[in-house]
Amino acid sequence: IKNIGLFTSGGDAPGMNAAIRAVVRSAYYYGIEVTGIRRGYEGMINGELFSMDRKSVANIIQRGGTILKTARSEQFRTPEGRKLAYDQLKRHGIDALVAIGGDGTFTGARIFGNEFDIPVIGLPGTIDNDLAGTDFTIGYDTAINTVIDAVDKIRDTAESHDRVFIIEVMGRDSGLIALRTGIASGAEAIVIPETETNIGALCERLEKGRKDKLSKIVMVAEGDDAGGAFEIGRQVKERFPHYDTRVSILGHIQRGGRPSCMDRVLASRMGVAAVEALRDGHRNEMIGIIHNEITYTPFEHACKHVEEINPNLLKIVEILSI
Ligand code: F6P
Repeated sequence: IKNIGLFTSGGDAPGMNAAIRAVVRSAYYYGIEVTGIRRGYEGMINGELFSMDRKSVANIIQRGGTILKTARSEQFRTPEGRKLAYDQLKRHGIDALVAIGGDGTFTGARIFGNEFDIPVIGLPGTIDNDLAGTDFTIGYDTAINTVIDAVDKIRDTAESHDRVFIIEVMGRDSGLIALRTGIASGAEAIVIPETETNIGALCERLEKGRKDKLSKIVMVAEGDDAGGAFEIGRQVKERFPHYDTRVSILGHIQRGGRPSCMDRVLASRMGVAAVEALRDGHRNEMIGIIHNEITYTPFEHACKHVEEINPNLLKIVEILSI
C-alpha cells in the first residue's frame, strides 16, 4: 500500500478528527502517503482530493466535527457515480481507502470494494452506536455525555416546577442513546424502538410514581414508532390534563463538541488498526473493538444492524426508577 485515500461520510461524530489524525500519523509512521478526500463520496466524485501530512492533523484531536467535512451522496449510489470516483482515485495514485462513518458509509464501501480493485477499511464513526462488530462507535460516548449534561439541567427546572418532561434524543433506528442516558440521568421511563411502546403503561407508571415525586423525566429515542416526543407529550397531556408537561428535543447539540477521553482513545486505537489492517492485506472490513480487542468485521455484517438491547439494562431502568 502506497497511498491511502481518507474520508469521513454520513453524519459527523465527535472523535472523527482524532481518527483522521491517527490514520495520517500511523500511515506516516509506516511510510505510506495519505490523500484527504473532502465531503465523503461526493468529494471523491468531484475530485476534492489533497495531500495530507503529519502537520495537517496537528491540534485536531480535541476538536469536534470533521476537518475533512462530510456529506451524503446520491451520485455514489449509481454505478456511473462510483466509476467517476474510482477514476479520481486512480488519477491521484490512491491504492486503498479508509472510510470513517456509519451504516450508509459502509454500504457504499461494500459495493465499491466489490466492484473495484481498491481495498477499503472502515472505522465506525456515528453517535448512534448502531453497528455490529464493535462494542462502541466513535462519537457515542461524547454524545451520551452531552445528553446527560443537558438532562441534568432540565431536571433542575423540572423539579422546581413539578413538571413532567418528555425528552427526545437522537438515534435514527436505535434506542441505545436513550437507554444509556436514561439510566445515567435517572429517567422514570424510556421509550425506544427495540421494545413495544405502550402509552397506557407509560402513563400508569408516571401516575404511580407521583405519590412520591411530581417531576418526571421520560427519555424518548427519535426512532421510536410512537410518533416522537411531541406525540407522546400530547397523549400524556390528554390522559392527565393536570400534569404540567413539557417537551424538549435535544437535536444536533448531540453531534457536536469536544470528544471525550474515551472517544479520543477509541478513535486513536482504531485509526492505527486501520492502517495496520491494510498493510496486513485486510479489505472490505470494519475495524471494531470488542472486549478491548481489535476486531475485523466484513462490511456486509457491520451494515444495517440494530444492536439488540441488553435486557439487563432495561431491567435496571425498571428497578431504579421506582
Ligand atoms: O446517524 C447519526 C444521526 O445523528 C442520527 O441519530 C440522526 O437520526 C441523523 O444522524 C440526523 O441526520 P441529519 O444531521 O442529516 O439530520
